[in-house]
Amino acid sequence: MKTRYEVIDGSSRDEERIGRAGKILKAGGLVAFPTETVYGLGGDALNPASSRKIYAAKGRPSDNPLIVHICRWEDIHTIAEDLRGTAKRLADAFWPGPLTMILPKKEIVPPETTGGLPTVAVRFPSHPVAQRLIEAAGGYVAAPSANASGRPSPTTARYVAEDMDGRIDMILDGGEVGIGLESTIVDLSGEEPMILRPGYVTQEMLEQVLDGVRVDETILNGKSPERPKAPGMKYRHYAPRGELSVVEGDASRVRETIVRMCAAAEAAGKKTGVIATDESAGAYRADSVKSVGSRGDEAAIAHSLYRILREFDEEGVDVIYSEAFSSRGMGQAIMNRLLKAAGHHVIEV
Ligand code: TXA
Ligand code: MG
Repeated sequence: MKTRYEVIDGSSRDEERIGRAGKILKAGGLVAFPTETVYGLGGDALNPASSRKIYAAKGRPSDNPLIVHICRWEDIHTIAEDLRGTAKRLADAFWPGPLTMILPKKEIVPPETTGGLPTVAVRFPSHPVAQRLIEAAGGYVAAPSANASGRPSPTTARYVAEDMDGRIDMILDGGEVGIGLESTIVDLSGEEPMILRPGYVTQEMLEQVLDGVRVDETILNGKSPERPKAPGMKYRHYAPRGELSVVEGDASRVRETIVRMCAAAEAAGKKTGVIATDESAGAYRADSVKSVGSRGDEAAIAHSLYRILREFDEEGVDVIYSEAFSSRGMGQAIMNRLLKAAGHHVIEV
């Protein structure tokens, strides 16, 4: 399959480009598009054949459900039950935006889209290109992140092309995404709201709207005996090809340890990489030292993490050591993704 590539450049031709992409989706094809979090791989959410194609293009297990993207709040009622009005309260506070809600699904949503679950994940993204595309496609677009299964989610159209060229009909290039990590997922289908995946919308922010919000305990603890509640969180995800370890503890001991481990790895003939911050990058000697930004700037860290993991792959780095970050606020999402990328391999010093 030849993948068409369309750049959304703010010109008067954009409507026509998005219209073409919408037609592809309506006809059962696949289009990758930008959202405010990461690029999504879209198909018609109400067409079972489209969902099957999404799984095939990503190489994703078909028990891992997709998020249905809408472009108007009211459209939620077509596909899901807002039993207690909780979704409405959250939507008033955070939609359009980087929050996904899990609700009991309605009949119209095919089991192929929800991985056979009786619930459906719904999100109303704030990115204007995403909104216009969903509208042009008829209102309901199933979209996982547009990476091949097991790779970091793509933050630019070039990274989408790396994984998806020749496997999908079109890539809409709307530039680099803003946030850089996937949406927060909150499950509203049970007794109490529960965060299944942390993101830009933090637990503290959700607690301002809801009475209580629990967090799936598997999020930061790889040794938890529980299974993650979001099927996708159980797979090793976001994985760089090099072997990644997170070093946690007192800042100066973390630096000493990383310096020592890099020297040992280099002596063993390995190509080494370090994930550092602006404050610490100068302290390391490795083949590739990358700063995620200033330690206190969580938005910058979130924005650069997936790009950096992909860059290490491009450079053929064999072993990567990363400093740990604070897991408060948005740091919870950052550490969740970093620990998953490392397969929960943590060195405590
Ligand atoms: O920011 C995002 O959410 C991006 C953009 C494209 O919108 N999408 C995204 O989709 O991250 P994906 O498929 O990569 O991640 C969806 C996650 C998976 O872990 C999946 O298991 C979980 O949501 N999920 C989807 N439907 C669910 C359901 N009904 N119950 C529990 N978890 C669900
Ligand atoms: Mg994903």
